[in-house]
Amino acid sequence: MNIILLAPPAAGKGTQAELLESKYHLNHISTGELLRKSASREDDFGKKMRDLLESGELVSDEIIFEVLNKHLETCENQNLLLDGFPRNIYQAERLEEMLKEKNDKLDFVFFLDVPKETLKRRITGRRMCQKCGSAYNVNIDSLKPKVDSICDKCQGTLYQRNDDNEESFEIRYQEYLDKTSALITYYQDKQILYRIQSDKSKEEVFQELCGVIEKGMKK
Ligand code: AP5
Repeated sequence: MNIILLAPPAAGKGTQAELLESKYHLNHISTGELLRKSASREDDFGKKMRDLLESGELVSDEIIFEVLNKHLETCENQNLLLDGFPRNIYQAERLEEMLKEKNDKLDFVFFLDVPKETLKRRITGRRMCQKCGSAYNVNIDSLKPKVDSICDKCQGTLYQRNDDNEESFEIRYQEYLDKTSALITYYQDKQILYRIQSDKSKEEVFQELCGVIEKGMKK
């Protein structure tokens, strides 16, 4: 089973990926996470990546495939749960070729649909755990950490991403509209797109995703 989570910034891709990964034993790959790992390097490449991510613009396809292919060499290549990839038609076509080479295919593309104003609220309130990567939100009561700035799960310190501000959000959102949103029609035409209204609690969104997957698995 191969799944794509397609959505604008802060729609809940990472949040749902964490839940789906553990329920269905999927190989969760977030290109954003891979890029943030590269950005933590103390060399010229790391600095270049930090600047790129802060700008909010999409990273070049060349860098994406370099980082992604390197990661794929190190992990199981089945049951992919792709979070934030592909981000444009070119990346989608390359992915299709990669899967075809392994006699594999995509099963579900979930489009997490959330209004822009809600995204802005989510992005400015997001806090991440430095240690285990869990996401919290100080703007949303049900997602606040129990103790300020401390992760409930591992007691790691919570931090705010450098690109989680309104200015960067506007650029990321525009990049999404200009380059990524075309994938909605692309996958609709292939009849594997499922639109999930995601302006709901994370549990409700998760239930809907599971419902579609369970139904699809019975076919
Ligand atoms: P990436 O890390 O993928 O960033 P993004 O797409 O902007 O998505 P986010 O990580 O911001 O949000 P999310 O949808 O995962 O939401 P989350 O679950 O955290 O990419 C970063 C950058 O890398 C990009 O800007 C680009 O430059 C580059 N990049 C990455 N992939 C690329 C590619 N393929 N090609 C080119 N460039 C690429 O949730 C957000 C917040 O909301 C959290 O606080 C969470 O707790 C909360 N929340 C989640 N669900 C709910 C809910 N149902 N109700 C209330 N709050 C919720």
